Amino acid sequence: MTTTAVPPTVPDHPLGLITGEEIRTAAAAVKADPRCTEGSLLAHVRLHEPTKAALAAWSPGDPVARVAEVQVVPAGRNAVIEALVDVAAGTVTDWVEHEGERPGLLFTESMHAIIGCREDAEWQAAMRRRGIEDLDLVQIDPWPAGTFGSPHEEGRRIARCIMFVRESPDDNGYARPVEGVVAFWDMTNQCMLEVADHGVVSMPPERGSYLPADHEPLRTDLRPLQIVQPEGPSFTVEGNLVRWGRWSVRVGFDPYEGLVLHQVTYHDHDRDRPVLHRASVTEMVVPYGDPGPLHGWKNAFDAGEWGLGRMANSLKLGCDCLGEIHYFDVQMATEAGDPYTLEHAICMHEEDYGILWKHHDLQGGTNETRRSRRLVISFIATVGNYEYGFYWYLYLDGNIQLEAKLTGIVSPMAVAPGDEPEYANMIAPGLAAPHHQHLFSARLDFDVDGAPNSVYEVEAEVVPPGPDNPWKNAFRPKATRLDTESAAKRDMNAATSRSWRIVNEHSRNRLGKPVAYKLIPTMSTPTMLADPDSSVGRRAGFARHNLWVTPYAPDERRAAGEYPNQSVGGGLPDWTAADRSIVDTDVVVWYTFGVTHFVRPEDWPVMPVEYTGFLCSPYGFFDRNPALDLPPSAGACHA
Ligand code: NI
Repeated sequence: MTTTAVPPTVPDHPLGLITGEEIRTAAAAVKADPRCTEGSLLAHVRLHEPTKAALAAWSPGDPVARVAEVQVVPAGRNAVIEALVDVAAGTVTDWVEHEGERPGLLFTESMHAIIGCREDAEWQAAMRRRGIEDLDLVQIDPWPAGTFGSPHEEGRRIARCIMFVRESPDDNGYARPVEGVVAFWDMTNQCMLEVADHGVVSMPPERGSYLPADHEPLRTDLRPLQIVQPEGPSFTVEGNLVRWGRWSVRVGFDPYEGLVLHQVTYHDHDRDRPVLHRASVTEMVVPYGDPGPLHGWKNAFDAGEWGLGRMANSLKLGCDCLGEIHYFDVQMATEAGDPYTLEHAICMHEEDYGILWKHHDLQGGTNETRRSRRLVISFIATVGNYEYGFYWYLYLDGNIQLEAKLTGIVSPMAVAPGDEPEYANMIAPGLAAPHHQHLFSARLDFDVDGAPNSVYEVEAEVVPPGPDNPWKNAFRPKATRLDTESAAKRDMNAATSRSWRIVNEHSRNRLGKPVAYKLIPTMSTPTMLADPDSSVGRRAGFARHNLWVTPYAPDERRAAGEYPNQSVGGGLPDWTAADRSIVDTDVVVWYTFGVTHFVRPEDWPVMPVEYTGFLCSPYGFFDRNPALDLPPSAGACHA
């Protein structure tokens, strides 16, 4: 019997979300390739995004050429293979082996690590030394191991497994760390390398439950708050194209970056004005500041080593999102290459955001108020203990904002009674949380009124006292063009209101000035505290500066490179070593933002959301306030 492969139905746009059929076709083509060895796993099957040149050349109605990227991890080898598949033809068009590179941690291999620990006699003995009898109640978390020159790392993919004990399966998984034990598991060869036991520490006494049954009586003083849009939401959705007010945006989804915004465009009367060609969070690292053997190695790259998209939640109405919601389902691939639907992966809705502008004319008596509203496009990833919500906001006045919301459970340590750790804060009896940072890298491919842009650093300059400044009050903005990649490695400075302006010299506003968008650090945001010459300092080099600017290159996709797992470095520091010109060219802006987390008692047993992010604001992009034509909200206000 022969079967004829039917080419999958193709989305109507080159950036359309990958379909289950496309995943199936691409995986089948790769698995049928004789170079794909027995037992290989597919780390991802995703859309190979067309280059900007290809997108610019494409018009609606043209054929849509779809290419899938498949990352193959051969069994028993320390290598990854990057394959490209022409989806319509069902053929492999490119096959590149990267010897010695490692994929992100695979779910299949992580499950083997968990099972392997349980079956290991040394591991069992280490648990029994701590009085743990029911080993089924031990939660085993495989972690990316980092790069520390340990012989275990050499030529292998490894995980470091840490453990916690529950009293019951629905207990807080992190309240009782099995302090002292780290198991080194060989992911490549599926065997235990070492169960390191640094000594027994007594279990923290509390369960740390955050379940409602353990917090009775629950509050009764909040009445229902509902968001009602009787005429429906103001956005329209065709495929993955969203239109809302003057904005349009194409929604994408990537296994590592999660939500991606493509072709963010403002329709300014009769003109389509591009602002961002592509925007996403490409990497995120959590370096821990405790120098001890149990926590000092922790510096997970949650995008590159785990995958924010791979870890994305299926969102549920009324809890994760509120109001008139549109959900996007996305298609993902199992490591066997089978498609599955992640339902409700992306949530989109509108939010009232207080007032946008207002003036009460005390003489004339008029009182004009316009309400602000934003379109929210979001997803939430659960990476082990932590939750990260990523919320992109488009506003009526041209603002674009990203807010990352950090919640979930901190990764704690058990502390012996009477001890006071130096590099961790006590958060509950016998329990402390090591100091750490969360550092995100947003990749912002600005095309402000088109691709050739330049970037200026703008900050307040204080004028020295003198004849021109008799009142010693003078200050003015100083704009410095950042001409090269090395000049564009910059850090925030709240004292001078430092921001960065992405300028198109070829497009002018009515005052004759070049149009621009401004990248504003809206919240105090750190850079990495670890030494630049530390392991994580080299591997997460992107986090050493808040700002980086590169000329667009299609293969420069993620801030720490494609293979951060057990890497020695890569990404932005390597690319920018060429010190390319970034003047009046197609620039990509990379912004590092995040928090330094000195954990509070209030962050236990589950963390109230902590916020971080940034704002992109029009700066002479418009000729005046672009929201003058908003209608007053007649009838909607109560006197
Ligand atoms: Ni934290």
